[in-house]
Amino acid sequence: MRQIEVAEIKPGMILAEKIVSPRGQLLADAGTPLTAQQLLHVSYYGVKSLWVQDEEDAVEKYQLEAPDEFIGETQSWRIQNSEEFAEFKRAYVKCADQLENIINDFVTKQGNLDDDALMEDIKTVFEEHSTGLGIMAMMLNVQEIDASTYKHSVNVAIISRVCGGWLGITDKKELDVLTMCGLYHDIGKSLIPNEILTKEGPLTPEEFGRMAEHPLLGYHLLTGEPIDRRIKLAALQHHERNDGSGYPYGLTKDFINPFSKIISITDVYDAMTADRCYRAGVCPFEVIAQFQRAEPSKYDQKVLQIFLENIADSYIGTGVLLSDNSRGIITMINSKALSSPLVKLDDGTFVDLRERTDLFIKACI
Ligand SMILES: [Fe+2]
Ligand SMILES: [Fe+2]
Repeated sequence: MRQIEVAEIKPGMILAEKIVSPRGQLLADAGTPLTAQQLLHVSYYGVKSLWVQDEEDAVEKYQLEAPDEFIGETQSWRIQNSEEFAEFKRAYVKCADQLENIINDFVTKQGNLDDDALMEDIKTVFEEHSTGLGIMAMMLNVQEIDASTYKHSVNVAIISRVCGGWLGITDKKELDVLTMCGLYHDIGKSLIPNEILTKEGPLTPEEFGRMAEHPLLGYHLLTGEPIDRRIKLAALQHHERNDGSGYPYGLTKDFINPFSKIISITDVYDAMTADRCYRAGVCPFEVIAQFQRAEPSKYDQKVLQIFLENIADSYIGTGVLLSDNSRGIITMINSKALSSPLVKLDDGTFVDLRERTDLFIKACI
């Protein structure tokens, strides 16, 4: 058991002592894995640190938090078992394979970045599936633990294109550039040894140093290519942060290209949803809470707000299971507290999760 600052606690760590609000509400019980939503609530009460158990069992147990009683009827289950999703997945896997071939040929100097066919396929996936189940819900469900860099890059490309639309970019050529920013943002990883890329567990400082070279390596790979400059900048700047805490140069917000700022958000979003801690949920409110816990000064706040608000909005009307096992429907999103919507319960009463800090969303059903 050890005491950790709330900001340092990762969702999934097991709480060693219960947390009670000043008004006596039980916020989280001892022995349970903490969620990002609970951690947000706890920070509202000014709690600075918590006692948690060892990290190793934490992740294990958090995975078991899947709502077993609803397996077979969760929203994720319905999506994953639909014909539309099967078709989406086939097209998506084809895009990732194409990207792998393009990048391999390019890096081994057997070809240039010949991505016309891939871009056409991405646009088709996008246009055919942007209605119906919703492309973002399908992207959440297509996630795999330890997905390849190519799959991750296709994810970031598609999510960035969606985000571009939400930001009001209507020019198709601009959206194509943004999509390509996503496709090639991690191209520098093709020069990083595989043992480092696929290593399980934390990297040594030396390995981390090698890994952190990928933005510069990517930029150099793309330098001579006749492509939009913003694609090269996205490879170079997607790990830069507005407050100067990023790498490789520690640039601050005025020096980071607007498209790179979008990629920095969609890249982290994809990494968060792929994180094994979230496998149980596949529900976006936990991911949104995780983003909201991250320091606001790191990301472009306007882009982040529009991105997360649109994701949250697309879940209005969706069923949810709350932490006390009551069920309801998401009725309204609070734009100031995106992970705490207004929920109409099965008995017809309303619960505002912004006020009921003892409750959180356990799953979308
Ligand atoms: Fe990266
Ligand atoms: Fe990435």
